[in-house]
Amino acid sequence: MLKGKTIILGVTGGIAAYKAADLASALTKMHASVQVILTENAQHFITPNTFEAITKQKCLTDTFDRNHPFEVEHIALAKRADLVVIAPATANTMAKLAYGFADNMLTTTVLACTCPKLIAPAMNTAMYENPLTRENEERLRRFGWTVIEPASGILACGDVGRGRLPDKELILEYVLRAIALPKDLAGRKVLVTAGPTQESLDPVRFLTNHSTGRMGYAIARMAMLRGADVTLVSGPTALQRPSFVDFVPIVSAADLFREVTARATEQDIIITPAAVADYRPACVSDEKIHKKDGELSIALERTEDTLQYLGDHKREGQILCGFAMETSDLEERARGKLAKKNLDMIVANNLKVRGAGFGTDTNVVTLITRDGEEKLAIMSKEDVAMRILDRLAGMAW
Ligand code: CTP
Repeated sequence: MLKGKTIILGVTGGIAAYKAADLASALTKMHASVQVILTENAQHFITPNTFEAITKQKCLTDTFDRNHPFEVEHIALAKRADLVVIAPATANTMAKLAYGFADNMLTTTVLACTCPKLIAPAMNTAMYENPLTRENEERLRRFGWTVIEPASGILACGDVGRGRLPDKELILEYVLRAIALPKDLAGRKVLVTAGPTQESLDPVRFLTNHSTGRMGYAIARMAMLRGADVTLVSGPTALQRPSFVDFVPIVSAADLFREVTARATEQDIIITPAAVADYRPACVSDEKIHKKDGELSIALERTEDTLQYLGDHKREGQILCGFAMETSDLEERARGKLAKKNLDMIVANNLKVRGAGFGTDTNVVTLITRDGEEKLAIMSKEDVAMRILDRLAGMAW
């Protein structure tokens, strides 16, 4: 996702500097050109050689490098950069950046950068909580920096509190959000439903389905990376919550109906891959149901159909995209749901096709609109998510 992007990774002199090697490696694997700048103090914790082996680029440490006498290197680099990430950032470097100091290769280069800038402070809790550091952080925010707040935990000095460098995965999500995709959904509100529902029968049992939530989570994440203001209403899944989305956990079809309809009017686009139960037990026993001789029948009643409600109450200009999972007569049934539920698009997939459906990394879908259909080849759920969003963004404005 970072192909063709130049990222300046600034590493300063804290114990977490060693973790920056892992970050440089992950960014390089995502095809970014990673230009590492180490401060003098950082070199007490990690060497330029480490970063050069990982990034295959010269690691910069010195503003007055005699190997580049004909180029003002920090300015050339600042012009090329798509993003600056400083991780870890010490209190000292934060203070310098907050007041525009330019006394080493990192601060000099960064002062000349006009691209987006991320900073991940990591230090002892007392240093981080010091009002001076708080004020410097606030000042950086005011001057356009995005601060990746430190995590809490046991620090190198043995203290417990805020000050740890956050996990690499979170820093990567900040990077991707900043530069990975064009922001064609900026300012748009997108609500996505995901996962299965669970319908209780008694305190120990419930009815559910095989949905893992992957398709919905992929759509929510891609919409977020494209700049949308995303709400993800999710049934119980084993997936990690995507960052930077408003996450609303639900359990039953009734919960889904309540949470989605409460937020529906304000949404520009609603996409509903959740596998919602059509029926729930008519009576939920307060006590465990014990076995008896002979058969047992459970009476079921219909649940609320959230998508039908959304179609019936669709606001002018709102885009509604449903999903249809079928095992036969795919296109015909999906087309029927498109019309009945007043949708703008329905994503149809046949559970019996290889590579489609529950628990797979891939999907095979047909995008059906009122005036046509597009069969997509087998592709990752992330790529399917992108294709769905492309189509919906094209309809919306
Ligand atoms: N859906 C919903 N609420 C329900 C059932 C389904 O919002 N109670 C939504 C799903 O999230 C999906 C779409 O409706 O986006 C279609 O779901 P599906 O189960 O394929 O179809 P149904 O409308 O339930 O029709 P059928 O049972 O005939 O397949």
